[in-house]
Amino acid sequence: MLQLDDVSVVYDGAILVLKDVSLNVEKGCITTLLGANGAGKTTTLKAISGLLYSERGEVTQGAITLEGESIKGLPAHALVARGVAQVFEGRRVFANLTVEENLMVGGHIRPSREQVRNAIDQVYTLFPRLRDRRRQAAGYLSGGEQQMLAIGRALICDPRLILLDEPSLGLAPLIVEEIFRTIVMLKQELGKTILIVEQNAAVALEIADWAYVMETGRIMMNGPAESVRADPAVQHFYLGLNEGGKRHSYREARPLRRRVRWPGHSDSADPHVPASPP
Ligand SMILES: Nc1ncnc2c1ncn2[C@@H]1O[C@H](COP(=O)(O)OP(=O)(O)O)[C@@H](O)[C@H]1O
Ligand SMILES: [Mg+2]
Repeated sequence: MLQLDDVSVVYDGAILVLKDVSLNVEKGCITTLLGANGAGKTTTLKAISGLLYSERGEVTQGAITLEGESIKGLPAHALVARGVAQVFEGRRVFANLTVEENLMVGGHIRPSREQVRNAIDQVYTLFPRLRDRRRQAAGYLSGGEQQMLAIGRALICDPRLILLDEPSLGLAPLIVEEIFRTIVMLKQELGKTILIVEQNAAVALEIADWAYVMETGRIMMNGPAESVRADPAVQHFYLGLNEGGKRHSYREARPLRRRVRWPGHSDSADPHVPASPP
């Protein structure tokens, strides 16, 4: 559905942040892009959703296509009109507006009031807690509820492709589980196509069909989620596991980071990772 081919991104005309990034997001699937803080995950989403340009970022190389048509350089509102919605890192909701008002803001591209109403009801069915709190200011919601609201707001414009930026960030494990169960429902029951960017590899790999691993602006590895999860390097760096499947401390993991090489990657040469769909 969505394809990036050898995409490079530069900020301020000078800082190369993404290098030859290729990835495929298959229709009806959950794809995850994993990577540590600063790897370039958010930049990848912004390159897709047209938000790069407001930050003096530019796609200097490569192609970005949605269902075969180029979307490179299109402004953010054009992407929304084509059915692409982004849920931002840090669940940015309007703190002073009520839950329902936040959802209405998401409905601005719906042609009729009735359609907005129906879409809001659908979000309440998905997240009953938002219905209970619909008259409350969003700023008083818990972190988990704000994440639900941010996802709900993205759903109001009935996107076909949803881009989620670190939905687990700063949330307690039980809440993360709840959010991720809902993301699976979006795929299974509403037929949405989903791209999730995450530092939390363990939860993302649990629900994803296909996974990409990014380090310092390059895709180092990709494959079906279960094979990426089984990869020894991923287990060391991203899941914190040792050979026996036991968890080791971050302190132990750090020196490994320097020792272990990624498959198909030599230090200076460009690793060409084929972005094959599942
Ligand atoms: N607007 C910007 N201008 C310059 N550099 C930026 C900008 N946004 C992000 N960067 C840099 O790009 C790199 C990747 O950032 P980002 O895409 O936010 O990573 P991630 O989402 O994986 O944490 C980082 O080194 C960051 O400092
Ligand atoms: Mg980020």
